Amino acid sequence: MDSPLRHLQMMLRNMALLAQEFDGSHRSINVIHTLIDNFDSRILQQFLPGTFSRAFSSVFDIAKESSAPVIKYSDVYKDDYCHVNVFGLLRAGQRIPLHDHPDQHAIMKVFQGSLKVRSYSIVEYDENGTELNLDEEHMFHSRYPPQDSILVRYEGETVLSSRGGQHSAWLGERKGNLHEVICLEPHTYFCDFFFPNSPYCYYYRPDPSITEQLAVGSPIVMQRIHCPSDFITEKLDFPSVPAFRFGVVDSD
Ligand SMILES: [Fe+2]
Repeated sequence: MDSPLRHLQMMLRNMALLAQEFDGSHRSINVIHTLIDNFDSRILQQFLPGTFSRAFSSVFDIAKESSAPVIKYSDVYKDDYCHVNVFGLLRAGQRIPLHDHPDQHAIMKVFQGSLKVRSYSIVEYDENGTELNLDEEHMFHSRYPPQDSILVRYEGETVLSSRGGQHSAWLGERKGNLHEVICLEPHTYFCDFFFPNSPYCYYYRPDPSITEQLAVGSPIVMQRIHCPSDFITEKLDFPSVPAFRFGVVDSD
């Protein structure tokens, strides 16, 4: 039987091929989202520190882990067309602060535990000053800001869980692009898949602060900020797959 690593490599290879053809159309998004959504989360779980090893951790290890503010992170795959990473959130309530992925589409897949994604869409106008309907397909000619402040609309919260219900979600290059992640249970792990690959990411806070529950669709201005000082990541031990060389015949 194939190893978990072999399964992961095969899925990433198929994804990387699709990423080369990715054009941001609904069809393109659906094809790649289906591939990622259907990939068996139990294969990804096999790369994590297991419940067996956690159950036999020393009292000292458990105390250290439960007080650790860090979030685990590792890159899994990167080429010119896509980027895949993995995050591990060890405690319920941990957050990945409000941030964006400029001009990228992202698919989040929770493969262990559960979390909440709170997302906001970037308000964009056509040449006549009419706000674009982001549920329709658009070619965005302007590079996405980054400006000091940005007008967005609240899209609401989505719960992703590895145990039934929805476990993956798509965030568009404008629709739902700003988001924060709130961990709902200890030892929650998820992968991000980005199309295309871009190194940029900016952090935001609402301006003014949100003092009450926002209604879905409400406009709000976000102020760009430096990466919050309490957002700290630590290396997660997880497989990293070298970029595929399509068109080159492998000898194995
Ligand atoms: Fe993100």
